Amino acid sequence: MRHKSVLVQEVIDYLKVDPKGVYLDLTFGRGGHTAALLDRLTTGRVIALDRDKSAIEAGHERFMNESGKLQLMCEKFSSVSEIVREPVQGILADLGISRDQIEDANRGFSFQRQGPLRMTMDAKQALTAKEIVNHYDERQLADLIYQFGEERRSRRIARAIVRERPIRDTTHLAEVVEKAVPRTSFRQRHKSQIHPATRTFQAIRIAVNDEIGEVEKLLATAPLMLAPGGRMTVISFHSLEDRVVKHSFRQWNTRGVLEVLTRRIVRPSTEEIAGNPASRSAKLRAAERTELEWPQ
Ligand SMILES: C[S@@+](CC[C@H](N)C(=O)[O-])C[C@H]1O[C@@H](n2cnc3c(N)ncnc32)[C@H](O)[C@@H]1O
Repeated sequence: MRHKSVLVQEVIDYLKVDPKGVYLDLTFGRGGHTAALLDRLTTGRVIALDRDKSAIEAGHERFMNESGKLQLMCEKFSSVSEIVREPVQGILADLGISRDQIEDANRGFSFQRQGPLRMTMDAKQALTAKEIVNHYDERQLADLIYQFGEERRSRRIARAIVRERPIRDTTHLAEVVEKAVPRTSFRQRHKSQIHPATRTFQAIRIAVNDEIGEVEKLLATAPLMLAPGGRMTVISFHSLEDRVVKHSFRQWNTRGVLEVLTRRIVRPSTEEIAGNPASRSAKLRAAERTELEWPQ
């Protein structure tokens, strides 16, 4: 199944799209948000980034007829301020990974599909899940699962992984985690139906792709790329990312550079969640660039 974009109307509303403006889509994915932006532009343009080459290649094909209005780049968003030098009217980041990435077994993101221990968004990247799972020491592994997976049983899981090494593939890893944290006790503890390996897989993916570091670096500079009155929207899918966005927006607000528009996070409607259950954990925050000049 293809990736379904989340909170599209909300993003468009918060960005208050100017048909002549320049917009940055930092997480192009399948291009759902980019398509919604392009629909509203006349002489405006979208500059879209994704660190996944296959997303950019598919984008060139899908948006062949929009080449005058759309520039696609295979880059990490943490370096966007070095790549794009013009002021922009809007910035969108829809964090995490796409359904297309999860469902491609060869990428190794899913515990439900047998695949290699990879989990890299950028296929050329040297650090993979295999290195972390089979070579990090038990302490490092436990800390990472605790920090990025918010998994309280991290020590137990790390011990089980180290004992079972070498871990062959995603299915093997999921089995080892499930054995270490049986479903019944996991469900009682988390009062949820999620698979016991969900948090461990999330943690390893975040570490492999340095996802929190990427968001921190992005938010340290991106607000300064906005023209006065320009807006930035960020969609995050777990509390660690959302915390970074919230604190960073607050800091820029205190400095007088941004005005936060979302005092409370915006979530998908019940209709959206019914049509796309994967959207249920999405959280949107938005802010507007003030007139204040800031030395760069
Ligand atoms: C949730 S999907 C975006 C979906 C997209 N908004 C759509 O409507 O199709 C996130 C995308 O961001 C990309 N991505 C994640 N972190 C990135 C980073 N640091 N730099 C560039 N792209 C990144 C992923 O490769 C993935 O394709």
